Amino acid sequence: MHQSVLAEEILHALATELPQPATGWCVDATLGLGGHSERVLTSFPQLSVLGLDQDPAALKLAGARLASFGARVRLRHARASGLAQAVRVEGVAPVMAVLLDLGVSSMQLDQPERGFSFQADGPLDMRMDPTRTATAAQIVNGWSESELADLFYYEGGETRSRGIAKAIVEARRNAPFTRTLPLADLIARVAGRGPRGGKIHPATLCFQALRRAVNEEGEELRLALESACEVLAPGGLLAVISFHSGEDVFVKQRFAEGERAGELERIGKGAIEPSREECRTTPRARSAKLRIARRLEQAPGQQVREGGAA
Ligand SMILES: C[S@@+](CC[C@H](N)C(=O)[O-])C[C@H]1O[C@@H](n2cnc3c(N)ncnc32)[C@H](O)[C@@H]1O
Repeated sequence: MHQSVLAEEILHALATELPQPATGWCVDATLGLGGHSERVLTSFPQLSVLGLDQDPAALKLAGARLASFGARVRLRHARASGLAQAVRVEGVAPVMAVLLDLGVSSMQLDQPERGFSFQADGPLDMRMDPTRTATAAQIVNGWSESELADLFYYEGGETRSRGIAKAIVEARRNAPFTRTLPLADLIARVAGRGPRGGKIHPATLCFQALRRAVNEEGEELRLALESACEVLAPGGLLAVISFHSGEDVFVKQRFAEGERAGELERIGKGAIEPSREECRTTPRARSAKLRIARRLEQAPGQQVREGGAA
């Protein structure tokens, strides 16, 4: 199971920042197992949900979970960057909330065959959307030493990136990497103790960087924020949960830019973080940050652009 993070805080924002009773549509662009959507549908009987996920397996499970809400739920296989197009194709309006809960779900991490895990062996895959072609193996075996080093450093924050990239390039001369554990073992041998004083596995940051590259997570976030701003009705809320410091900084800057342009208004002073209690019960929540902004009046002549739904 996947525990939804910061759900109470999102419900609180919807209850206090939207005109009540809240009506219209919430686009959950990273539906996952539908935990946040279920809470929204239960707490706001006049809101409906358009749920998007790039992982067909997640959509199937969420579909079963949300079936009892009937016509209040529509689901599509799409990337978050394509949310404006999905909204247009589905003809849903007004969009009063867009939710982005970034990264992978526990369900994806816990299935070794998806290739996200450095603790259980699986194919070196890491695609959230298995219908796409680029895999982690292609990056590990195909990128140059300096490209790998830059990826580990800039996307993962791994300070031993050069040594790790060098060791990978030497090892793959004998045989390409095809499985997660041999790669994780090699990284652990080169890196030694894991980051944060050894509290996390030495391969954590490199695996995160690879996952972000395979799924184009940086570009997805950028496009998803643009797409959300296009479809939100004036007064609608954009809520983003990130688990990566670079992503949180990006969201913060995009919100500030939107505020300067008269497009967005930030809700609250900074990022909202999970309570101690939530961090205790859901360790994954520890790095979560939630930022919320309100869409202000649409500039005259602004139209919904085509997104890139999968
Ligand atoms: C953290 S989980 C969401 C969990 C969900 N909020 C819940 O409460 O069950 C993230 C989900 O978003 C999906 N995802 C991540 N990035 C995506 C993107 N750019 N487009 C569409 N889906 C994405 C993943 O496949 C995964 O199922």
